[in-house]
Amino acid sequence: MPQKETEQVKFWRGEFGDTYVDRNTTTSNHIGMRLSMWVKIFRFMAGDMPKSILEVGPNIGLNIRAMKMLCDAEFFAVEPNAKARKVLIEENVLPKENLQNGFAGDFKLPDTPVDLAFTSGVLIHIHPDDLLKACTNIHKSSGKYIVCYEYFSDKPEMIDYRGHGDKLFKRDFGSFWLENFPDLKCLGYGFEWKAMTGMDNATWWVFEKK
Ligand SMILES: C[S@@+](CC[C@H](N)C(=O)[O-])C[C@H]1O[C@@H](n2cnc3c(N)ncnc32)[C@H](O)[C@@H]1O
Repeated sequence: MPQKETEQVKFWRGEFGDTYVDRNTTTSNHIGMRLSMWVKIFRFMAGDMPKSILEVGPNIGLNIRAMKMLCDAEFFAVEPNAKARKVLIEENVLPKENLQNGFAGDFKLPDTPVDLAFTSGVLIHIHPDDLLKACTNIHKSSGKYIVCYEYFSDKPEMIDYRGHGDKLFKRDFGSFWLENFPDLKCLGYGFEWKAMTGMDNATWWVFEKK
């Protein structure tokens, strides 16, 4: 059953999402920070690198731009914000036919599962009631690896997001994946400490289907 468009998705499709695109930049510094994170993540896939990769919620594609320097995979993406999709196409981040207008709770799953499906700063913007459906779609989309890079909190909590309520939810996303999808094993995890990496004090997890 497809999920109804949520309040959170409408928020990202609208003015807030457009302004986020305007604020986001693809300087070599920003891409370099992603590059160094993906070097760490890809270590867990050494010898069996993904040949097809789906990012759910790429915005202007900082991850994909960096990952392209590290592997030869074919990239796919699902992004609800039209302005972000326009940048992705105009700047040749990925081919038009590989980019969907959709959101984690409702998109066309790939006919052949990709080797790696991932989110980066996206599960945090999904209401806890909708999270399982979103993760189920991501899980079905991947034949091998799942990665998420998200804000961590020991207990689920909602925090204010630039003055907006109900738009940012932190939790232990790693445990959420393992508890809900017993076929996953955790290959590794790490913390991107802002003081050393420039990233946003968030945690990544790498999972493989057993
Ligand atoms: C904080 S940005 C992160 C962008 C990118 N992943 C990165 O790491 O730079 C969140 C992105 O996810 C998109 N988004 C928000 N809710 C989503 C959902 N339910 N499914 C897919 N994408 C979503 C937004 O439009 C936005 O592009």
